[in-house]
Amino acid sequence: MCGIVGYLGYRDAYPILIKGLHRLEYRGYDSAGVALLNDEGKLNIYKAVGKVSNLEKLAVGQDQSGSVGIAHTRWATHGAPNEVNAHPHLSQSGDLTMVHNGIIENAGTLREQLKEKGFHFRSDTDTEVLLQLIEYTRNKHGLDLASSVRVALKKVIGAYAIAVIDRNTPDTIIAARKSSPLAVGIGEDNCEFFIASDASPIAGYTNRIVYLKDEEVAVCRRDKELEVTTLNEDHVDVQAKEIDLDVSMLDKGGFPHYMLKEIFEQPHCLRDCMRGRVLPAHQRIVLSAVTEHREELIHAKRYLMVSCGTSWHAALIGKQLIEQFCRIPVEVAYASEFRYSNPVVGPGDVVFAISQSGETADTLSAVQLAKNNGAMVFGIVNAVGSSIARVSDTGTYIHVGPEIGVASTKAFTGQTTVFAMLALAIGRERGTVDEATYLEALEELQQIPDKISRILEQSDAIRDLAQDYAGKRNFLYLGRGMNYPVALEGALKLKEISYIHAEGYPAAEMKHGPIALVDEDMPVVFLATHHNLYEKILSNMQEVVARRGKVLAIVTEGDEQVRRLADKVIEIPSTLNCLVPLLSVVPLQLLAYHIAVAKGLDVDQPRNLAKSVTVE
Ligand code: G6P
Repeated sequence: MCGIVGYLGYRDAYPILIKGLHRLEYRGYDSAGVALLNDEGKLNIYKAVGKVSNLEKLAVGQDQSGSVGIAHTRWATHGAPNEVNAHPHLSQSGDLTMVHNGIIENAGTLREQLKEKGFHFRSDTDTEVLLQLIEYTRNKHGLDLASSVRVALKKVIGAYAIAVIDRNTPDTIIAARKSSPLAVGIGEDNCEFFIASDASPIAGYTNRIVYLKDEEVAVCRRDKELEVTTLNEDHVDVQAKEIDLDVSMLDKGGFPHYMLKEIFEQPHCLRDCMRGRVLPAHQRIVLSAVTEHREELIHAKRYLMVSCGTSWHAALIGKQLIEQFCRIPVEVAYASEFRYSNPVVGPGDVVFAISQSGETADTLSAVQLAKNNGAMVFGIVNAVGSSIARVSDTGTYIHVGPEIGVASTKAFTGQTTVFAMLALAIGRERGTVDEATYLEALEELQQIPDKISRILEQSDAIRDLAQDYAGKRNFLYLGRGMNYPVALEGALKLKEISYIHAEGYPAAEMKHGPIALVDEDMPVVFLATHHNLYEKILSNMQEVVARRGKVLAIVTEGDEQVRRLADKVIEIPSTLNCLVPLLSVVPLQLLAYHIAVAKGLDVDQPRNLAKSVTVE
């Protein structure tokens, strides 16, 4: 993963780089570093293990001058997260310095070859190998920095987004990418350039952004037009995009954590997601992708869904919604498994790629494979302009705004909302959903944001309840039907941020294994809302209670039967079965959040995780 930032212009680079790193910290926070090149040609590099704040502490009182610089926040792949392995790396001569996001797969071989040519390595990283290769190329062929980068990149296998500076040419930064995202922001009159892994470090400085494509190299030179070429030095015509990123969405807005802010934003975000799509006056759901690709969508042989993590859970809900309303068979695959499974996929298939970041490496590769095989790709993405969004044939943005907390919350409900709209819109075109059902669901969808607000009012009560659970070691989450993926998602949330082992299971399947774990010390969270499988869930609950398991149940308001069995209950407003995940997941998000806070953990940046997984 990792996040990279670069600046070249007339202002002090240091504060811009640090602010950018904070905004990219969601990508990894094992170590951070910055390289600054000042007017006297002096290159200062500072690195610290851990978060960006550690780097800031270290840099206090140091020389922070320079209007050219690059910086990095790391999620370790090659080599332990220590200071030596932290970026920026320095070439053997001390002239070149570089930051990198991605993995150079043939780094081992290249390292050996370079050692034979007299290069020494300080770190265990693949990044240092690439940097030495650039230096070797420059020395051997007497090339300038841009050409050395191009030639060296032709020799590497793997993924990279890089920014490189040479202390001998202080007016230039070279940036390049393949499979890892990279954006270049262009200031007015080309007087300054901002390089970053996504647009967030650039927002607030300029809204003109160029997203580099695979194997493109950007030459950013002070007071010169941005120049982009391929690795073969072919000129690329680039068009800067006007982006409109609300900077206020990038701060915590008075909440103690991004995660809590994002949980509380859900009513507002889901209204944004439905705006212009759910049209009450016309009693219709209109999605441009469905209008434009009506024939392919309604005549598809089957749908496939590829995704990872929370987005995979949303896909499981999407499958149920589409099969119910559209009567099209749907298969859901982990993108990481799909891409290596020699999948049977081709023309006539529609492959849905679900991704908050739009950059997840496995999902992106699965999409490319599906495209190469002739399938149509439909992206359900949050990050506008991201790689998956760009490579998809069509799609529907979830439009919930930047999600910064590592544990995904509002993206999950946004993805689920998009699936509900899609299933209804496609189902209506296919004639597989009757008008009364369609209108009832359309009406109820609009009530969801208010109903989520009512659940959010219970946040303090859930906080109090969380105190009893913070000391537990294991949890089981059980649900059926539409609530089964919610059980998986609830367990994932708890694992991610509280480091408590939690398993999600289809409730009836519990008796084939997990029930052996149940005792008086094992909290079992049941999703027991008033829907078709309610009676069945009650029986499953009886089985747990009979084994002295402690039941915490999510129930529909006014429920009496579960209350008699469960230790604790959290009520949610009643809704249609097809929309229940949009409500039932919210108390589970709050529960995980409050348990992690009660344990004193870092909710927004849990250990070992990263928000955007751009390595496979
Ligand atoms: C990481 C994040 C998860 C996310 C998953 C898939 O593991 O921590 O929150 O669900 O990647 O990411 P995507 O951006 O493709 O939805």
